[in-house]
Amino acid sequence: MLALTGSTGHVGGLVARALADLAPRLVVRDPSRAPALGLEVRSADYADREAALAALEGVDVLFMVSGAEARDRRDQHRTFIGAAAEAGVEHIVYTSFAGAAPDATFTLGRDHHDAEQAIRESGMRFTFLRDNFYADLLPWFADDSGAIRGPAGNGQVAAVARRDVADVAEVVLRDPMAHADATYVLTGPEALSLAEVAERAGAVLGRELHYEEETVDEAYASRRAAYDAADWQLDAWVSTYTAIADGSCAAVTDDVLRLTGHPARTLEQALRGE
Ligand SMILES: NC(=O)c1ccc[n+]([C@@H]2O[C@H](COP(=O)([O-])OP(=O)(O)OC[C@H]3O[C@@H](n4cnc5c(N)ncnc54)[C@H](OP(=O)(O)O)[C@@H]3O)[C@@H](O)[C@H]2O)c1
Repeated sequence: MLALTGSTGHVGGLVARALADLAPRLVVRDPSRAPALGLEVRSADYADREAALAALEGVDVLFMVSGAEARDRRDQHRTFIGAAAEAGVEHIVYTSFAGAAPDATFTLGRDHHDAEQAIRESGMRFTFLRDNFYADLLPWFADDSGAIRGPAGNGQVAAVARRDVADVAEVVLRDPMAHADATYVLTGPEALSLAEVAERAGAVLGRELHYEEETVDEAYASRRAAYDAADWQLDAWVSTYTAIADGSCAAVTDDVLRLTGHPARTLEQALRGE
C-alpha cells in the first residue's frame, strides 16, 4: 500500500495523477480538496498524531511532501514521521532541500535536515529528494515593479522545475526498493544568477523583471516594513538570497536525467509548464 501526502498541492498533485494507476491512498488535510481521481482519501495534518496513525494504517510506502512553512514545522514533521513508523510504514520518500544541513545558510534547510534525521532515527527505509529552489516560483520573488530584491550578489541558483521533482518521485515510488536509503539532489540543468533569472523569466512571462542588490540589513528592513512577519520567517526569506550569494544552491547535478531519462527542464520550460 502506497500513501501520498500533499496531493492538494503542486508537487503532490502531479505525483498523485502520475501514480493513480497504483491506487495510492491520499492523505490530505481537507478531503473536500483532494484531487478527484477515484482514490481512497484519509485526513491528517502532520501535527495530529492520532489522525496520522489512522490515516497511515496498513501503509508500506509513504511519499511525504514537506509541510507549509511554520514556526513549529520541525515538531509537525517529527510527529508525522513518528506516527508513520508506529503505523508500520517501511519506507518513506521525503521532499527535502538541496544542502539540508544543521548549519545550512537557507534557514529552512536546517528544518529539512531535522526531518531527515528523524527519518533516519525512525529505522524506516528512506529516499530523500533534496530539491533546489523551485524554478517555477523564482519570478514570484519580484515585487509589483518587477524588482527581485535581495542580498544574492552574483551568486547562482540551480533551480529545479517542480514537474521534475514529481517525475523523480514517480520513478522512485514505482520501485522504492531500488532507491532504498538513497539521497538525490534535484536541480535544473544550469546555475543562473538572479539577474539572468529575471531577464529570462521576464521574456517568457512578458514582464519587465530585473534584479536589484540589497544588503542583508536592507533586506531585513524592507521585509519588516512590508510584512508583519516573525523573525524566523524573515530569516527564511532573507537567507533564500544569502544562500544563493554564498554558492550553497549553485551545484548542478544530473540526478533528474539519471532517474527519469529526460534532461532537467530549463527555466523557460518550467515557466511554460512544459
Ligand atoms: N524548494 C523550494 O523552492 C520550495 C518552495 C516552496 C515550498 N517548498 C516546500 O516544498 C513543498 C511542496 O511544494 P509545493 O509547491 O507542492 O507546495 P504546495 O503547493 O503549497 O503544497 C503543499 C502540500 O503540502 C500539504 N501540507 C502543508 N502543510 C501540511 C501539514 N502541516 N500537514 C499536512 N499536509 C500539509 C498542503 O496541504 P493543504 O492543501 O491542506 O495546504 C499541500 O497539499 C512545500 O510544502 C514546501 O515545504 C519548497
